[in-house]
Amino acid sequence: MKLADRTSRIASSPTMKVGATVDRLRRSGIDVIDFGAGEPDFSTPDAIKVAAHQALDQNFTRYTPVAGIGELKKAICERYKTDYGVDYTENQVIVTAGGKQALYNTALSLFGPGDEVITHTPCWPTIPEQVKLADATPVFAHTHVEDGFAVHAQALLDAVTPRTRGIIVNSPGNPTGALISEGELRVLGEFAAKQHIWLVVDLCYEKLIYDPVPHNLPKVLAETCPEQAVICGSASKAYAMTGWRCGWQIGPQAVIAASNAIQSHSTSNVTSITQKAAVEALRGSQAPVTVMLDEYRKRRDQLHAWLTVDPRLRCRKPAGAFYMFVDISDTLSPDGFRTSLDWSDALLDEQRVAVTPGEAFDAPGTIRISYATSMELLREGSTRLLAFVEKHAPQAATAR
Ligand SMILES: Cc1ncc(COP(=O)(O)O)c(C=O)c1O
Repeated sequence: MKLADRTSRIASSPTMKVGATVDRLRRSGIDVIDFGAGEPDFSTPDAIKVAAHQALDQNFTRYTPVAGIGELKKAICERYKTDYGVDYTENQVIVTAGGKQALYNTALSLFGPGDEVITHTPCWPTIPEQVKLADATPVFAHTHVEDGFAVHAQALLDAVTPRTRGIIVNSPGNPTGALISEGELRVLGEFAAKQHIWLVVDLCYEKLIYDPVPHNLPKVLAETCPEQAVICGSASKAYAMTGWRCGWQIGPQAVIAASNAIQSHSTSNVTSITQKAAVEALRGSQAPVTVMLDEYRKRRDQLHAWLTVDPRLRCRKPAGAFYMFVDISDTLSPDGFRTSLDWSDALLDEQRVAVTPGEAFDAPGTIRISYATSMELLREGSTRLLAFVEKHAPQAATAR
C-alpha cells in the first residue's frame, strides 16, 4: 500500500501510546497504576460545566466563525491583559482545538521546505513532528540534567544557521517542568527581531508554576519582538479541560489570518459549546486553578521525597507542569536493562506501573512520571517503583 511520503517521516505520539497500553490492559481486567497520563485528574470546575449546559440549552450548537466567537477572543485578550499586562486585539487571536492545533497552525503558517526550526530537548514530541509535517527540519538544542534542564538562550542560538526560520520554546516544559527565565527569553526575542526569525512560545502549562518566580513571557515578547512572536496557549491543563479541546494562538494579524485560512479548510471552528465554556473558564473565578495548583504542589513535594530515598533515582523538583522527570541511568547496565524503554516495559509488566520512557522525549536514560493522579496512587506506585529498582539494580546501591 502506498501512503503519502510524509507519513513515513513522522512517528505517532509516543506519550499517547502509553495511555493506549494502559487502556488495553485495563480493558483486559488488569489493574494498572498510570503515571503516564499528561492530563489533570481533576474534574472540570463546576462553573465551566454550567456554562456548557447553558450553551446547549440555548441551542448554541451551530457553526461559529472559524477563529472563534468574539466573546471568547475578547476573554482571551482580557486574560492576557490582566495576567501579563499585554494588549492584544481580537484579530490577533484564533481559537483552536487545544494548544496542539495552535502549534500546528503556527508550524503550517510559518515554516516550509528547507527551513530549520530550533527547539530545546528533552521536548514534547509533537513539537518536532509538527515541524516535519510542515516539511521543515527540526533542530535540537540540548538542555541538561545538572541545571534542571533550564533553557538557555545561547544553546538555542548556537544552533542557528542561515536556514533557521524559527525557534520554539516551551515553558514550563513538558517533560522536564523547567522554565525559561525572562532574561533568557529577552535574548531570544531581541535576536528574533533583529534577524527576522519567528519566536514561538508554547505556554500551555503557564498557569502551573509552583513558586512566585518572574515568568511574564508575553510581556517580554511584546517588548522585544511583537512582529515575530507567536504564543500558543490552552485551557486544557489550567482548567482541567483536556477533552473539551480549546486552545488559542496569539500573534501578528497576518499570521492569525494565515492560520484562519488553514483552519477554515481543515477543522473550522472549535466546538461551539466548548467555546462558551472557555469564556467562563477565562472570565470566571480563577480560584479553582489555585486549588489544583496547590494540590499538584503537595504531590510534587511528596513524590520527590518518596523517590529520592533511593539515590539511583535522580530528580529535581520541577518548577512547573505536573511531571517528575527522573534520571534512571544509574539503574541501567549492560547486564540488566540497557534502555529506559526496556526498563519501563518491565516496570509495567512486573509491577503494573506505567511511566513514559525518556525515549519519547529524545532523552534516553530517563522516565517521566505524571503526578496528575491521587496521592494514594502516587504512594502505592512509588512503593512499587522502588521495589522494582531494588530488585533489578541492587549492586549499584552498595557500590555508592
Ligand atoms: C508541551 C505541551 N504543549 C501543548 C500541549 C497541548 O495540549 P492541548 O492540545 O490539550 O491544549 C501539550 C499536551 O500535552 C503539551 O504537553
